Amino acid sequence: MHLNEEQIEELEKIYRINLINSCSGYKSANLIGTVSKKGEENLAIFSSITHLGSNPPLLGFFLRPTEIVPRHTYLNIKEKLFYTINSVQKNFAEKAHHTSAKYKRNISEFDITKLEAQYINNFIAPYVKLSSIKIGMKFVEEIKINYNKSRLIVGKIVELNVEDDIVSKDGFINLNVSQIATISGCDGYSFPIKNERKGYQKPKKI
Ligand SMILES: Cc1cc2nc3c(=O)[nH]c(=O)nc-3n(C[C@H](O)[C@H](O)[C@H](O)COP(=O)(O)O)c2cc1C
Repeated sequence: MHLNEEQIEELEKIYRINLINSCSGYKSANLIGTVSKKGEENLAIFSSITHLGSNPPLLGFFLRPTEIVPRHTYLNIKEKLFYTINSVQKNFAEKAHHTSAKYKRNISEFDITKLEAQYINNFIAPYVKLSSIKIGMKFVEEIKINYNKSRLIVGKIVELNVEDDIVSKDGFINLNVSQIATISGCDGYSFPIKNERKGYQKPKKI
């Protein structure tokens, strides 16, 4: 397949969404848990959560434009400033995927999917009880991408809850042991079974 800029622009909508969403490779799969100032819980799947730095420990995610379709995750983060990022595992990937459906703000995806909410150490936002990795986040800043009206939401990791048996002695988390999902496109879920760690690289002596 070869497509130039013009041909890409002319692609049929769904075909273009699928193609462009999968061409950059596998993405992380996470559920973001939030709560509004009225106490309404919200849970939604995101595939754009990415590492921004270890010290300070920052994670970012990209939010689709909020101007026309209100994004409850975004509204809740701006109201309460704290949110959670939770891993998606094979045994509940179906339920996790369903959180992308557009429910009204007063309807909780925790209730709809029967994914149980969990509050740990009085953290403001709800975690997903079944997730092996539960990250407590504090909002840091948002960066508007004017070209397509999306936003990069930057947050700091302020709490980390990881099942002990998947953390290696050197801190590396063995995601495959917990059957943690990765996403391609908008609805392709994979569950890697093996890691090949290649170690930290130094320049070769020439
Ligand atoms: C696999 C998958 C990945 C998604 N990733 C993102 C994402 O990275 N950013 C985003 O804004 N929406 C993403 N969405 C869409 C949200 O899940 C969807 O808009 C959801 O309704 C948001 O819920 P909320 O309004 O309760 O925040 C994704 C949907 C799916 C199915």
